[in-house]
Amino acid sequence: STPAPAKTDPYALLAPHLDQLRTSLLTLLGSSHPSLDAIAQYYFLHPSKQLRPVLVLLFARATNGLGEGFPEVKWAADNAKARQQELDAPLTRKDVLCDWNPSMPDHTASFETAFELRRPPSPPPHTPPPPLLHQTHSPALTHTLLPTQLRLAQIVEMIHVASLLHDDVIDKSPLRRGAASAPAAFGNKLAVLGGDFLLGRASAALSRLGSNEVVELIASVIANLVEGEILQMKGNGGEAAPPPTSSSSASNDIDLQALHSSPLASSPASSDKWSIYLKKTYLKTASLMAKGARAAVVLGGCREGEVCKEVAYAYGRNLGIAFQLIDDTLDFSSSTAQLGKPGFADLRLGLATGPALYAAEEYPELEGMIGRRFSGEGDVERALTLISASRGVERTRELARVHAEKAREVLALLPRSEARDALEGLTEGVVRRRW
Ligand code: FPP
Ligand code: MG
Ligand code: MG
Repeated sequence: STPAPAKTDPYALLAPHLDQLRTSLLTLLGSSHPSLDAIAQYYFLHPSKQLRPVLVLLFARATNGLGEGFPEVKWAADNAKARQQELDAPLTRKDVLCDWNPSMPDHTASFETAFELRRPPSPPPHTPPPPLLHQTHSPALTHTLLPTQLRLAQIVEMIHVASLLHDDVIDKSPLRRGAASAPAAFGNKLAVLGGDFLLGRASAALSRLGSNEVVELIASVIANLVEGEILQMKGNGGEAAPPPTSSSSASNDIDLQALHSSPLASSPASSDKWSIYLKKTYLKTASLMAKGARAAVVLGGCREGEVCKEVAYAYGRNLGIAFQLIDDTLDFSSSTAQLGKPGFADLRLGLATGPALYAAEEYPELEGMIGRRFSGEGDVERALTLISASRGVERTRELARVHAEKAREVLALLPRSEARDALEGLTEGVVRRRW
């Protein structure tokens, strides 16, 4: 029998880009304040998975060039070319910002004329897109990465790191990426301000990508991250009801309709607790992956209604949910040394994640503890004992596998390519990871 083809390693495929991405990202973060520079760059100086940039770049490579001959593809290439200079210019360009230099002219008086001059031409007439499946990539864009997409990968990582800076303040975490967390090293105030600064720089870079659709997508992610955090703070207390069985959301068919449905429509949310938990998981983790991947495809010239956008979104959403579910199991099963951050953090923060919710089915005693957010004397220790004795971690991993499998399935809607193989590999990597 012929051996199975070797899997494409996503990191090997993108290695040269990833190194370059990290180095050039640091140049986007310079300010005139050394302490602000230090905090803004801090988490980028430690090794990380760079999962979000990988996802953005793989989707760019897997979908660039689809829909050849349509105005959007031409737009994508022309837009990237026209933006090259702008992308390379420092983000603190004084002619536009006229902020810290009082001698700069005030542009507001000429705003209306300027706006008239810069109004974009009306959109091209609509022609229906052809089906994607039997299409091959356009030679012009195949296997290329547009400069706008490379920048998007950095923006997405900046937003992620901004959220970690804020998260480590909220969670009072002493460790991140194997070293002192930013609040531990610099204090809470600088950590919060550093996160805000990253969001500011990410927004400026975002505006230069030349797509309002992408600005809207990514701006909505920032709101989603906050919504997820708030939902988590409110807790997932609610009516006790049977948790989902991990097989309930598995399906061998690719349902195109489901790709367009609401983010949680295909998740196994059969109780209040589970529905809140999975919604929070989408908002705090999967939204950035889903919309980041979708934005990459938009910058590649995929038009509204084309399936590659929906594939990117559905893949990112399922991969993100799988990733977070695994994260929630690692909190119980991996050591602080492996994780580079403290273990058992969720219970101590009063949070009931997948393992606790499943364990409560076997040990109803956990319900009360979940309700009071493990705040009673000895709750955390007792809950740890019960969760370890239960199948909670195992079943959460099974549920993660179901989502990873769904992510893998939707890829069948794209033509075969090395990048698509790497995206397939990523679905396995996310479930197998130990850190
Ligand atoms: C890590 O989760 C945190 C997140 C995925 C998002 C946190 C979002 C905010 C703090 C809202 C503010 C957002 C912005 C963009 C400023 P975790 O605490 O479960 O994981 P950990 O173990 O890695 O800390
Ligand atoms: Mg947190
Ligand atoms: Mg945290």
